[in-house]
Amino acid sequence: MAATFLSFEGIDGSGKSTQARTLAETLRGLGHNVCLTREPGGSKGAEEIRRLVLEGEADRWSTETELLLFTAARRDHLEKTIRPGLARGEIVITDRFADSSRIYQGLTRGELRQTVDRLHDLMIGTEPDLTLLIDIDPALGLARATARAGTEMRFEDMGLAVQEKARTGFLALAVAHPKRFRVIDGARPANEVAFDVMTAVMIHLSTR
Ligand code: ADP
Ligand code: TYD
Repeated sequence: MAATFLSFEGIDGSGKSTQARTLAETLRGLGHNVCLTREPGGSKGAEEIRRLVLEGEADRWSTETELLLFTAARRDHLEKTIRPGLARGEIVITDRFADSSRIYQGLTRGELRQTVDRLHDLMIGTEPDLTLLIDIDPALGLARATARAGTEMRFEDMGLAVQEKARTGFLALAVAHPKRFRVIDGARPANEVAFDVMTAVMIHLSTR
């Protein structure tokens, strides 16, 4: 079975994690070997970095430091989880990847887009084969994310205007990379969203 690397992207509360889990279960049900993972995190070291970046005061890190932490976490994730999974022939599904750095560190939390891209080329150099962008109105995303509130609130404290900017940024990335991205309307019941996700993935798997 040929390995493939899939990512989910979207603003907070768009339903990425829910969809990533459902897709993993559905593919496993069809007999595929699946590695379901997430960022920041997805490996032991990267999960430790996750706590550093997502907990504490909003101004805890500068955008530059934050970018370095996310990139360090991504490098560990790539080495310890993604590449080994692909080498075993698995379908690797990650809940967020480098596009999140392009949007958050590159556009909304800082204006480091060129630095993000340069650091990515230098340290990561890998893109997903297919990226599922779960698109949603930020007001709905924020309501969902707030209802689920826990200790990881540094980013979700950002507010509606910033989420709107992030949404626009993600949609622009999808336009810039139409071969890699599929935009899925996330403002519907989870099973309807999951159907569109599965359709996009089946087409991808059958046309590689
Ligand atoms: P994300 O990973 O994008 O932040 P989650 O999958 O964690 O989003 O979903 C955020 C919240 O919204 C969760 O409480 C989840 O149960 C709920 N949720 C997810 N998808 C839907 C949907 N399609 N309709 C309504 N609620 C949803
Ligand atoms: P995540 O756990 O996916 O949050 P949610 O489920 O609410 O979408 O991600 C946590 C936060 O980290 C999210 O606000 C986006 C941010 N983030 C970055 O700023 N840069 C990155 O490179 C990544 C992977 C995430």
